[in-house]
Amino acid sequence: MVPLHKVTIHHRKANRKISFDVPEGEYILRSFESHGEELPFSCRNGCCTTCAVKILSGKLDQTDGIGLSEEMRAKGYALLCVAKAIGPLELETQDEDEVYKIQFGKYLERTKAQAGNPFDI
Ligand code: FES
Repeated sequence: MVPLHKVTIHHRKANRKISFDVPEGEYILRSFESHGEELPFSCRNGCCTTCAVKILSGKLDQTDGIGLSEEMRAKGYALLCVAKAIGPLELETQDEDEVYKIQFGKYLERTKAQAGNPFDI
């Protein structure tokens, strides 16, 4: 018998709190979709950060994802499309691009500064 873990997601954009029992080993995004819930996603492969959430409480397994740095994981971010519950969880969706900017913003700013203004001659 596969253990079930209660997962609660605060869906900020929809202003809703959604809870389901997710079977251990099942991806959380897919499990919520099987209940008819639409959550943000794009690649479904743990690469793009569109499905990123902040972990409010609990722990999960996201060893299948490559889209978040170790630093971001340590700060409590996770990717729903490749995250599996290993106990009760409370998560919060992030605004589109929010996690992408946190993770890559410093590199984009550096690139912009190095490039300067392309219209300066
Ligand atoms: S949908 Fe792209 S990382 Fe999850």
